[in-house]
Amino acid sequence: MYGLVNRAIEQLVVSARGEAAWERVCHRAGVDSDGFVAMCPYHDDITYKLVGAVSEELGLTAHQVLEAFGEYWVLYTADEGYGELMSAGGSDLRSFLGNLNAMHGRVETIFTKMRLPRFRVEDLDEDEYLLHYESERAGLAPMVAGLVKGLAKRFGQQVEVEHVAARTDAGAHDTFRVRHEVMAIAP
Ligand code: HEM
Repeated sequence: MYGLVNRAIEQLVVSARGEAAWERVCHRAGVDSDGFVAMCPYHDDITYKLVGAVSEELGLTAHQVLEAFGEYWVLYTADEGYGELMSAGGSDLRSFLGNLNAMHGRVETIFTKMRLPRFRVEDLDEDEYLLHYESERAGLAPMVAGLVKGLAKRFGQQVEVEHVAARTDAGAHDTFRVRHEVMAIAP
């Protein structure tokens, strides 16, 4: 994946535990700690190894690390100069998720070798929908759950996210049920 992703993992670790923790993560992962170039594509193995090493360093499961990373990605990309792209994606979670492929499509004009995930929203109810996620990469579903939670925070919305169907060898497709908590109106 692009260095931007690995750099975000680095920032997450450094902000939580400091530079020394990041050095240990790189050592565990067998990765050079000299720094990733955001615009340069790296082998996916590096990202997966970093996630494994972060989970050992922080005493969390890989699932927890990926979910935390997904939440962090929303803040990180906005800080790294992609805030306008994020803002153009919509002003509430449901519409943003519906525009996600178009937004990533614009990102692809910058990161031209991106291997894009695909998303589709299937409405169930006014406040409930399914988010379908397809990727050629396995194992990133918890990141998507974290991304949705991070986006909900960005829009000041309360949501429950449930991973209702996981990809199988036969199909690279995960499904999440997203339910918005409706504010009770005071009498
Ligand atoms: C403007 C903000 C964003 C930028 C600049 C950005 C950029 C990127 C880049 C460069 C990658 C690596 C792809 C590769 O190297 O093949 C990536 C992956 C990914 N992005 Fe985004 N992204 C943004 C926002 C989002 C949002 C809001 C979501 C919410 C769901 C999202 C979901 C993902 C996922 C799940 C992946 C992992 C790739 C996979 O599933 O195969 N991104 N993104």
